[in-house]
Amino acid sequence: MSIKITKTPTPKVKPQNPLGFGKYFTDHLVTMEYVDGKWETPQIVPYSPFSLDPSTAIFHYGQGIFEGLKAYKDAEGSIRLFRTMDNLNRLNDSAHRLCIPQVDTKIVYEALVELIKLDADWIPTDEGTSLYIRPSIIGIDPALGVRASSRYIFFIILSPVGAYYEKGFSPIKLFVEENYSRAAKGGTGDKKVIGNYAASLKAAADAAEKGYSQVLWLDSNEHKYVEEVGAMNICFVFEGNKIVTPALTGSILPGITRRSILELASANGMAVEERLVSIEELVNGVKSGKCSEIFGTGTAAVVSPVGAFSYKGEEISVNGGKLGEITLKLYKELTGIQTGRIEDKFGWSIKI
Ligand code: PLP
Ligand code: COI
Repeated sequence: MSIKITKTPTPKVKPQNPLGFGKYFTDHLVTMEYVDGKWETPQIVPYSPFSLDPSTAIFHYGQGIFEGLKAYKDAEGSIRLFRTMDNLNRLNDSAHRLCIPQVDTKIVYEALVELIKLDADWIPTDEGTSLYIRPSIIGIDPALGVRASSRYIFFIILSPVGAYYEKGFSPIKLFVEENYSRAAKGGTGDKKVIGNYAASLKAAADAAEKGYSQVLWLDSNEHKYVEEVGAMNICFVFEGNKIVTPALTGSILPGITRRSILELASANGMAVEERLVSIEELVNGVKSGKCSEIFGTGTAAVVSPVGAFSYKGEEISVNGGKLGEITLKLYKELTGIQTGRIEDKFGWSIKI
């Protein structure tokens, strides 16, 4: 397939560290439209705003999905992608749930690679930085009837990023939410659907006001079992070296970082358990020392240590609020593989 590339006549000035997360965007983007029952050939064009009718479906009913993945530059200057096809397959899973037509993952992969090569100078190389890749699909019928669109835009934008959390790789505090719910079984919580994030904003804002970085969500039925955090999955270190994480019961996003961490831990000889974890078990486990570390996992969040969480008005400190040994080890191994510093025995890191 040959992708038409239109280069920008006015390249932007590249930002310096600290980059933060998702504040800067590169010079180009991929776009591909779905018209008359088929996806057209993708194109690469200068980064610029979309012009859409105010009646466009996405503005009213949120028929939109997205993905998040990263590219890195290794010490030799080669560009590396991490488990990209897993993200593209999950994009199609999300598409299926919102009646969005399936994309050809091979074509999308090719377009993504071309875009990254074109904007390769934007890939930052400082420790903890990377190029965040955001593929999205939105329904664009200009009509107010509640139904699946007949036209869509697929696009990919790129953003040079540093740490997702303001304080970088240092322990964050979570607020255990007992009233609001993020997702219910049968809903869209296990897909990357844009509405999930809108629905989480109020609880996140309330938590932020109390000094907490993010919400730790419980199941929507009983508010009894731990599910995940707003932008990452959650793992616990039990009994010294067992990694426990909530089972994927239908309302939790099946994170690619989560799966990678479970596979890495297993390869390191650690026991791994995916099961229901009640908030009571977690509170008692942390207080008794049975649970010694908590960390989140996600593309944006990477591996994020949790230093405390608040439940029923009590703040419970985890590992004295400090970064734990196992969290650090898994962080180093994962980022080592992603950036080519550590040999990849899993076939996750692909040079392009
Ligand atoms: N959970 C939610 C709600 C997320 O938005 C993300 C981020 O993508 C994750 C978990 C982690 O998923 P992944 O590791 O695939 O990035
Ligand atoms: C990611 O980690 O890629 C995410 O999508 C999480 C968040 C920025 C919404």
